[in-house]
Amino acid sequence: MNQWDIFLAPYKQAIDELKIKLKGIRKQYEREGKSSPIEFVTGRVKPIPSIIEKANKRGIQFDKLSEEMYDIAGLRMMCQFVDDIDIVVVLLKNRKDFEVVEERDYIKETKESGYRSYHVIVKYPIETLDGQRFILAEIQIRTLAMNFWATIEHTLRYKYDGDYPPEIQHRLERAAEAAYLLDEEMSEIREEIKEAQKYYSEQRSELR
Ligand code: GTP
Ligand code: MG
Repeated sequence: MNQWDIFLAPYKQAIDELKIKLKGIRKQYEREGKSSPIEFVTGRVKPIPSIIEKANKRGIQFDKLSEEMYDIAGLRMMCQFVDDIDIVVVLLKNRKDFEVVEERDYIKETKESGYRSYHVIVKYPIETLDGQRFILAEIQIRTLAMNFWATIEHTLRYKYDGDYPPEIQHRLERAAEAAYLLDEEMSEIREEIKEAQKYYSEQRSELR
């Protein structure tokens, strides 16, 4: 194993474990026949070139990476409705297997770019041959609409290095507005949708 593999191994372990645990929350809702506030969960270890690039940009020493770069381990929890996000945040804070050490609410305080999401940084213990070790991980909680916008914007950011032509900039602002309105509209009929989904999943389980 090279130095990077050795450094990243505990992060991979943390992501593998946390993905199973967070996906497990959804499974519990399903088992109890309740509509889940979590639609799906993804996780990744930050690619090495991205770690190097960010460390250089922020002037982070390589021996300080595990303390100063919070998103080497990153997870996303996607929700159908904006109100589900608060439910998920409370669930995360009540857990005994990790500690929420920081929160950033980019929904109440939308970023300049139009980015919306709720971020928490958690301190997660992993067991290694040398004993217990704490890993910082960033969990981004967002609606499907917020996720759609952020994914597209992230791709374009790469292409233009964040320096958008005015036309693209304008389109992204309009798209952010549209995503916001979609979330608002869905919130209005949230209860109706949840009822219908419950009915649908009951029908399906009867057919099994
Ligand atoms: P980085 O933005 O990751 O360099 O770290 P930071 O310390 O500024 O934290 P921040 O909370 O601003 O962002 C953390 C993460 O949120 C990023 O790595 C992205 O995944 C996401 N994010 C933040 N701002 C934006 C944005 O404008 N567009 C998109 N697509 N994602 C964003
Ligand atoms: Mg940032």
